[in-house]
Amino acid sequence: MSDLCPRGWLNEAVRRIEADYNRSADTHLIRLDLPRYAGITLYLKDESSHPTGSLKHRLARSLFLYALCNEWIGPDSCVIEASSGSTAVSEAYFARMLGLRFIAVVPATTAAPKLDAIRFQGGEIHMVDDPRTVYDVAHRLAAETGGHYLDQFTYAERATDWRGNNNIAESIFAQMAEEEHPVPDWIVCGAGTGGTSATIGRYLRYQRYATRLCVADPVHSVFHRHYQDRSATVLPEGCASRIEGIGRPRVEPSFVPGVIDRMIAVEDAASIGAMRALSDRLGRRVGGSTGTNLVACAGLIEEMATAGASGSIVTLLCDGGDRYGTTYYDDAWLDGSGLAWQAEAARFTALLGPA
Ligand SMILES: Cc1ncc(COP(=O)(O)O)c(C=O)c1O
Repeated sequence: MSDLCPRGWLNEAVRRIEADYNRSADTHLIRLDLPRYAGITLYLKDESSHPTGSLKHRLARSLFLYALCNEWIGPDSCVIEASSGSTAVSEAYFARMLGLRFIAVVPATTAAPKLDAIRFQGGEIHMVDDPRTVYDVAHRLAAETGGHYLDQFTYAERATDWRGNNNIAESIFAQMAEEEHPVPDWIVCGAGTGGTSATIGRYLRYQRYATRLCVADPVHSVFHRHYQDRSATVLPEGCASRIEGIGRPRVEPSFVPGVIDRMIAVEDAASIGAMRALSDRLGRRVGGSTGTNLVACAGLIEEMATAGASGSIVTLLCDGGDRYGTTYYDDAWLDGSGLAWQAEAARFTALLGPA
């Protein structure tokens, strides 16, 4: 027991988080029939419907419970996180629920609407020019404020219950139960911390499902290189993914390559093209990392069709696209970034078929 965290306060903090969870409904599973691929069905696990708009809502809840039950934070703690944005939005939500100050250390390139979303949840912003310095700056701020660095990159794979407790994988299988192909051939997700893929990969093995895990990774990320060659641990200077939330310049502690069955590297232009086509198909905007997932799904669907196989593939709709109104949905910004996405958008519009 520490002086930092009186037991009464801890009990109330945990009760508030559990009560919030109890008030929340699970996220939807969207079915997409593909006219070109009879017998193969694609499903989107819609994590944008969480109260804070992304898959990171689950992680933020787990990280706060992990820090609370380790008595790393108490009633006067300042909570700090290094984030590309989505995690910080969700953590600011839980920090405010507990009456705690929250500071997000974010790259200066983070989309303005995401910064607004962090502030809307009561969080403060600390920007860094070099994205590689987010970890050290977060540690320094924790020392200066006497606070706690939640550190999603280290604890994502540890704080999330991979055996169940309504983790994202358990939720997917429960929602697939009445489908024609209830055990998907593949689950496809991206990696930022690596926590989501670690949770899904472990759950599939724990439950002894035949389903395989494929991780879609931007070409300017180290993860798929490390997957091929474990000695590849950092990217050369100046090489960075432009798809927010996924792809990293260094191998993060929560990335667990051993539970991943396959990795597919995806060009940024393809991610953006797929993202735009899917948004048209759904009638609402999705984020860039969802586009990356869809590109990898398209390759797997083609392989299944060529093999004459029928079945299902599940992927993640990681966050809504409104946060990218000034970037991925701004054609002038895209032209400036030199991403030739239009041809890719046409390819995916054909794959997805009409709404
Ligand atoms: C939008 C988005 N998609 C996907 C991911 C990847 O999730 P994970 O960190 O669990 O690997 C992130 C992570 O930050 C994200 O923000």
